[in-house]
Formats: sequence, C-alpha cells, structure tokens
Amino acid sequence: MRLRTDDVVVITGAASGIGLALARAFCARGLAAVMTDVRADRLAAAADRVRSEGGTVTPVVADVSKADEVERLAEQAVAAYGRVDVVCNNAGVSPPPAAAWTIAEETWRWSIDVSLLGVVHGIHSFVPAMIERGRGHVLNTASVGGLVPVPGLAPYSAIKHAVVGLTETLAAELAEVAPGVGVSVLCPGVVATELARSSRDTAPEGLDFTTFISGDVAPPTRRSDSVMDAETVAAITLAGIEADTLRIVTHRDSGPLIRRRLVSLEADLPA
Ligand SMILES: NC(=O)c1ccc[n+]([C@@H]2O[C@H](COP(=O)([O-])OP(=O)(O)OC[C@H]3O[C@@H](n4cnc5c(N)ncnc54)[C@H](O)[C@@H]3O)[C@@H](O)[C@H]2O)c1
Repeated sequence: MRLRTDDVVVITGAASGIGLALARAFCARGLAAVMTDVRADRLAAAADRVRSEGGTVTPVVADVSKADEVERLAEQAVAAYGRVDVVCNNAGVSPPPAAAWTIAEETWRWSIDVSLLGVVHGIHSFVPAMIERGRGHVLNTASVGGLVPVPGLAPYSAIKHAVVGLTETLAAELAEVAPGVGVSVLCPGVVATELARSSRDTAPEGLDFTTFISGDVAPPTRRSDSVMDAETVAAITLAGIEADTLRIVTHRDSGPLIRRRLVSLEADLPA
C-alpha cells in the first residue's frame, strides 16, 4: 500500500526496539501514530521522543494479550484520528532458552497469549473496518524463526511459524474480499533491541531469565546471523509495505537458512 501523509498507523509494542523504530519511520513520512505498549513509563518516554522529532503521536497503554484492551485501543485510535490505515501487530516476547521438553506449560501459555493471540486480537479489532473502506495494510511481526527452526527457542519458533501461517492465510482471504487491504509478515533475523530484558520485565512471576540475559545460551541460527539495528529494519519494512511484499525478510544471511529448509521440505515430498 502506498503510504499517504494523512494515513494513521497503530503500532503495538511501540515502547522500544522495532516498534519504536517503526513509529519514528512512519512519523518521518508524515503519518500520525497511535503507539501502544504494556509498559506505561517506557511508552510515555518513547512517545515524547517521537514528538520531539516532530511526530504526531497518541500513546495508549494496552496489553495485546487481552482482547478487550485491543478493542479499546481501536476505539481510542478512531476517536483520535477517525480511522486506522495501517496496523502493526508487533508486540512479542521471548522466553528464556531451554530444551522443548523442559519448558513449562505456563511459559507456553504466556508466549502464545502475547505473541500469537496478540496478533489475532489486532486482526479482530482493525481488519473489519479496513475491509469496509477497501484500503489498509496489516503488518504482523514474526521472525526468521517463523521460517526455520530455532533450537533452544521452541515456543518462540512455534509461535512465529504460526504468525507466518496466520498472515499468509489472511492474505489469501483478503485477496478475495478486499484486494485493497495489503498484508505483510515481518521476518527479521537478530535485531539489536531489548527483547530479552523487556520479556523478563513483562513476564509472569517465577520465570528464570538468567541464561538469556547473560547470553550464555545462543541458539545456533543466532550465532551465524548479523545483528541489524531497529532503524534499518523499520526502513526495510516501510519499503516492503509500499511494495506489498508478503514476507519481509530483512537479513541477507537468512537466505541460506531458508533455502536449506526449502531443500529439506522438497526432499520429504512424495515422489
Ligand atoms: N530483537 C530481535 O532479534 C527480533 C528478531 C525477530 C523478531 N523480533 C520480534 O520483533 C517484535 C518486537 O520486538 P523487539 O525486538 O523490538 O523487542 P522489544 O522488547 O524492544 O519490543 C517489544 C515491546 O513489546 C512490548 N510488550 C511485551 N508484552 C506486551 C503485551 N502483552 N502487550 C503490549 N506490549 C507488550 C514490550 O514492553 C516491548 O516494548 C517481537 O514480536 C519480536 O519477537 C525480534
């Protein structure tokens, strides 16, 4: 979707990292941004930063794992700006690395609630109005971990695969009923953000983040990845939205990992 200066974007997980970089990039293009996050203090500081750069922003505290809070977010965005043209379902968490068979159900549920159902709630609350208007764009943040396995991060990889599948399915459905509503899934490799720290800060009581924070356990795909800054990810993402790219893969060194998976998938097909 070609962005216009009077467009309105809603970004979840906008208090830091990729979400904040997206808000800055959209505002630099003249859009108004509704920035939302579960961490009120960090969100206020992030919104002040974007405002100081000349951006028009409205911060709204909301927990994406809660359907009613995302619905209220949509109502507040419409009350402030009249409509929403772009929604970025970006908020996500990453539990500490561990073998799949050792990960507690509580950890799975927390990850699914935020990183998968958070995207589902965004689709529920924003897509119907876009279909009605016949114009809009949905950006869901997955990861290269949604295209290839990430040993050590089973919930993260499983959920990001689900976000890729959900987004591709949504794209196929919208192509039928509302071809003017574009859909993209963002699949970055490693990005220099505070994901580990903010996941620890927003996690339910009792999860152990020691290994993740110290970086003692690094999944194999991460060791070979380059680390990109969030501003570069945001610039690639806006270009991807404007080109209506379905899968926005940011890191060149994700290519060999994805090709290896495609080759192994091909090898498993019946003759
Ligand atoms: N950093 C990476 O290497 C990387 C790579 C690929 C994909 N991603 C994805 O990018 C997205 C953004 O992460 P980031 O790296 O910018 O990390 P980040 O921690 O800087 O940003 C994530 C934001 O989401 C917020 N958040 C957490 N739980 C929430 C909830 N329940 N409701 C609303 N907001 C909530 C956090 O407070 C935080 O501000 C995530 O979906 C993440 O999985 C990150």
